[in-house]
Amino acid sequence: MKTVFVTGADRGLGHGLTGNLLENGWRVFAGRYMSEWHELDELAERFPDTLTIVPVDVASAESVASARDAIAAATPRLEMLINNAGVSTWTNSRTIRENPDYDEMHRLYDVNALGPVRTVEAFLPLLDRGSMKRLCFVSSEAGSIGASQRNAWFAYCMSKAALNMGIKNLFNDLRPQGYTFRVYHPGWVRSYMGGKKNDTADLEPKDAAAYAIPFFTAPRDDEDKLALIDYLGREWPW
Ligand SMILES: NC(=O)c1ccc[n+]([C@@H]2O[C@H](COP(=O)([O-])OP(=O)(O)OC[C@H]3O[C@@H](n4cnc5c(N)ncnc54)[C@H](OP(=O)(O)O)[C@@H]3O)[C@@H](O)[C@H]2O)c1
Repeated sequence: MKTVFVTGADRGLGHGLTGNLLENGWRVFAGRYMSEWHELDELAERFPDTLTIVPVDVASAESVASARDAIAAATPRLEMLINNAGVSTWTNSRTIRENPDYDEMHRLYDVNALGPVRTVEAFLPLLDRGSMKRLCFVSSEAGSIGASQRNAWFAYCMSKAALNMGIKNLFNDLRPQGYTFRVYHPGWVRSYMGGKKNDTADLEPKDAAAYAIPFFTAPRDDEDKLALIDYLGREWPW
């Protein structure tokens, strides 16, 4: 049975990805950040043998290492890691004349850009033993410098652009070691970024997950090319 770790699985896209993978026969370790949110418990009742909930805060190296140790006690290998956890906030929309929030920029950088790098580092020993060696990253069109038209959203856009660069460094190092990469923009998802569910967005999390999982799990023609691909299969400029 194939094994995967998904970060930020409490709700939104990460929860949708977790449900989809379970329905497709994967053994899923799901990262819990929000102890007060119970959607994952409902999934655990449906999939008691194949879902394990693991607390993880990707902004903390200690927490990521504890999650790795908990998973290593249950399985010797992982086939795939999905770096999904991410944050945004509405004060992001402040322009340069509207008192941008530098504390927020630090926090988003720590979670969105450094979080996935921390997680890859901690989980490499388990991934090294897997046959698939697949590293998936939920990035965003907001991290594309080439396509950017925003005049604000400093924290979110800059954190995702930095993530993309981090992924490129990992690709240069780990692709020759047999790793394969998926860098993904999931579309505009009815998720909880910013604190409350965004019902005006395009895609329910489970529908967004149905687009994402085939891209994450299937082979690609050119594994030696790193590309930012969206839910409709379109390639975005870096
Ligand atoms: N929604 C969109 O339209 C959209 C578009 C492009 C890309 N994305 C990306 O998609 C990914 C999933 O986001 P989403 O839209 O599903 O948002 P979401 O509903 O907020 O889900 C993200 C989950 O990650 C959790 N999380 C926050 N900080 C974390 C940390 N330090 N460690 C571990 N988990 C943490 C969140 O908890 P809290 O709710 O407590 O923060 C939440 O449960 C993110 O990387 C996001 O940037 C989303």
